Amino acid sequence: MASQFYQSLTAEKVTDDMLAEAAHLFDENYGIWGPQSHNPGNPVKLSVRRLREQYLLPRTDQSESLYIRVTVDGGLVGNAFACRWMCKSQTVCWITQLVVDQHHRGKGLASGLLRTLRQDSDDMYGIMSSHPAACLAAAKAFGKNIEKVDLDFISKNASEVMSNSPIPYIRDAELCGTIFGADDSNGIVSGVNTNFFVDHTEPLEALAIVEGEWQWPLGKLPDGHEYLLILPAKPRRSRSRSADVHR
Ligand SMILES: CC(C)(COP(=O)(O)OP(=O)(O)OC[C@H]1O[C@@H](n2cnc3c(N)ncnc32)[C@H](O)[C@@H]1OP(=O)(O)O)[C@@H](O)C(=O)NCCC(=O)NCCS
Repeated sequence: MASQFYQSLTAEKVTDDMLAEAAHLFDENYGIWGPQSHNPGNPVKLSVRRLREQYLLPRTDQSESLYIRVTVDGGLVGNAFACRWMCKSQTVCWITQLVVDQHHRGKGLASGLLRTLRQDSDDMYGIMSSHPAACLAAAKAFGKNIEKVDLDFISKNASEVMSNSPIPYIRDAELCGTIFGADDSNGIVSGVNTNFFVDHTEPLEALAIVEGEWQWPLGKLPDGHEYLLILPAKPRRSRSRSADVHR
């Protein structure tokens, strides 16, 4: 039987060799550029340097970056990058990248990576992703049925939480979708316009499957956009809550 191993590391523990493996996983498995992009049909790629600079920010008293990886028989088959930051007195945990090897998908690895990330001290989780399976994995790992996602929670917290992010692309993301009172003509309910023109063929195939199985709450996926999901952490008896999260 194959041995599966999840590992969680803070930014300073992540070596360049690990990032080289992560870059290879990303280049081979993330996806291809879409027709409206600068590089249609070619794989979206990331270098070790960009991974370090954009996904593993140096720790401060307000934020911390993390890397979670899963190996099968010693080989890297999936990983997630994440960042925790403080927004008022709340700990926000945001998934900044999530990739699973194409040959290992649909086996719960993305959900497992996100479960490994979860901590009792987290108050909310966030992800921006064009892939419905990433949203399903987040909902599952953080204890919410996708059909029961609280859109009101997203609309009340997104702007403040994201504007406090140390990660520029999250801080600068343009909120869009009907929950933000925006023009609903493109059909998205909760999303961001990132102008990231990755090819949507595979995410849209997944969306068709997911819409057949679930009451999908996040709407359609226009080119250049990503879904936005923000979930409150599951209440735990031992946690004390501040009133700053708008529920
Ligand atoms: C998104 C991604 C990480 C999901 O990885 P994965 O390991 O296959 O996900 P999981 O097996 O944990 O599945 C999570 C849920 O999505 C569902 N799912 C996975 N792939 C699916 C697909 N292609 N179509 C429909 N549903 C799918 C699973 O059934 C599961 O739902 P369930 O919990 O109700 O059973 C993977 O598809 C990927 O790397 N895609 C390319 C990169 C990308 O788009 N990343 C997201 C950007 S942040």
